[in-house]
Formats: sequence, C-alpha cells, structure tokens
Amino acid sequence: MQTAARSLARSTPHLRSLAIRRSHTGPSRDSEGTSRTTHFGFKTVPEEKKETLVKNVFDSVASSYDVMNDAMSLGVHRLWKDDFVSSLKPGVKGPLRCIDLAGGTGDIALRILDFARENYADRETSVDVVDINGEMLKEGYKRFKKTMYHNTPQVAFIESNAQALEQFPDNTYDLYTIAFGIRNCTSVPDVLKEAYRVLKPGGTFACLEFSKVTNPLFNMVYDQYSFSVIPIMGSILAGDRESYQYLVESIRKFPSQPDFAQMIVDAGFATGGMHEGKGGAWRDLWGGIACIHKGVKV
Ligand SMILES: C[S@@+](CC[C@H](N)C(=O)[O-])C[C@H]1O[C@@H](n2cnc3c(N)ncnc32)[C@H](O)[C@@H]1O
Repeated sequence: MQTAARSLARSTPHLRSLAIRRSHTGPSRDSEGTSRTTHFGFKTVPEEKKETLVKNVFDSVASSYDVMNDAMSLGVHRLWKDDFVSSLKPGVKGPLRCIDLAGGTGDIALRILDFARENYADRETSVDVVDINGEMLKEGYKRFKKTMYHNTPQVAFIESNAQALEQFPDNTYDLYTIAFGIRNCTSVPDVLKEAYRVLKPGGTFACLEFSKVTNPLFNMVYDQYSFSVIPIMGSILAGDRESYQYLVESIRKFPSQPDFAQMIVDAGFATGGMHEGKGGAWRDLWGGIACIHKGVKV
C-alpha cells in the first residue's frame, strides 16, 4: 500500500510517505469478547476487514475514478465541490493551514488553493492531502503536477488513515475538509475525534458527503438511478461493477443528516442548530443527494 507513495516521495520532497497506523491489528471485540462487525455496503463484515475491502475498491477504481465520477453524477460533483469550497472562503481571513482527508484525487485541495489565490491573492495557504490509498494519492499527485502548486510548500501528499492521524500533532490546522470520504471509514466517531484533535481551537471541520434524499418521490427516482444505472456504468466504463455497487450501497448506509450532525456535536464541535439550511448544522445539495456539514472546534 505504501509503495506508490514511496515512489512518489522519491520524485518529490513534497510527498511525504508516512506509515499507516492501522486502527485494528487483530479482530476488534466488544466488552463480552465477541468480534465486532460493521457494514461494507449492504454486507456485514468483521470490523477489521473493512479497511482492506475499501482499499480494494479504491485500488480498482483509482485510474477511472474521474471519468466515472463525471459519468455517474453528470458532472454535478464538480459543482458540489465548488460550492463546498467557496462556502468555506479559504483565504478570506489570511492564509490557512488546511488538511484534506480522503483527498486522493486532489479535487478539494486544488479548489482551496485556487480560491485563496484567485480571490485574495493568497499564495501562502497550504493543504496536506491525506488518503489511506497510495493509488488515489498518485492520481491527485498527477493532477497537481500540471499546476503552479507543484513542487511548492503549498501542497503535500501523505498516506495515512483518517481514523489514526498520530503522525499529525494536536492543534495544527485551521481547516479540515473531507469530501465523499467519511462514509468509507470503519469508525466515523474515530475520524471525528482525530479531526477535532488536529484542528486548532476555532478551526473548522467541513464534510461533503452523499446523504439522504428528503423528498420520497425524488428518492424513488434517485434509488432507481443509483441501483440500476450506476453499477452498469461501472461495468461498462471501468470494467468493475462490484466496486460501484459498493459505492451506491455505502451511501445508503451512511447516517442521516441529523444523526451525522449529532455525531459531530458528540465529538466536541460547535455546530449550527439541528436543522437544515441557514443557521443549521447542515446544508443539503440537490434535495439531500449530497450534504455539507460543518463544525467549529471550541
Ligand atoms: C470517493 S473517494 C473521494 C476522493 C476525493 N475526496 C473526491 O472527492 O474526489 C474516497 C476516498 O476516501 C479514501 N479513504 C477511504 N477510507 C479512508 C481512511 N480510513 N482514511 C483516509 N482515506 C480513506 C479512499 O482511498 C478514497 O480516495
């Protein structure tokens, strides 16, 4: 898993390959000694197996990820990512130190740096792009190679697990982003705990994730599209039906907007009120297909 990042590290000082600290070394057990399980899409699997299964998915989709993302969302993921980053206004109060988790493609990092530069002439904001998967990081690195940020201190690529960021000191970052990544992690509370720890007091946690469609009629259409069209697209465009079936299923298993907002509060963050929209803890995009949650470390 670390080979890709290592070879990239050799070719650039800005890609640091850090050891992946696995959250589980053996079977996880509850207080009665029973092996704990979690979901992998609609399947129930032992907790300690999920990370490898998710890794296999992203190893498999890494090279076709962008094409498939565009095809599946008809390009809309780009608009959601633009909206997500512009809502954070990176650079408005001066340069930021940012960490983008599950950031393999570099999509969010690039938008953060572009936004800060284009709107505030800020060339000091920096982003550490962190992902558990070396193949995904390689795709992000390739993308950045074509930009002005390549080989500058503004970006670094680091292989690590969002649930165990021990390599990163406490109180380090002004902004923590995670886009379409948290639902793939075995323990969402562990991810949030680590996000809280690495953020400075007053720092912002921001998550863009697929969520629950609130309108029942729209939900029916969306379900039909997700379960009938996306796996077929996966098989035609990427030769991989199963990985795309997992992606669709994992979206359905992710907590609802209020449940996820409550988890953010439980991790210690201050959020807006427990409702959608202005002044609320979350904002739905396209009727809840995707959703932005934010919290501030207090
Ligand atoms: C759907 S992709 C999203 C990539 C990018 N953020 C975007 O929006 O284009 C999900 C990413 O989460 C990463 N990931 C999954 N589990 C992770 C974990 N425990 N820690 C860090 N990254 C993880 C995968 O390797 C993959 O790159």
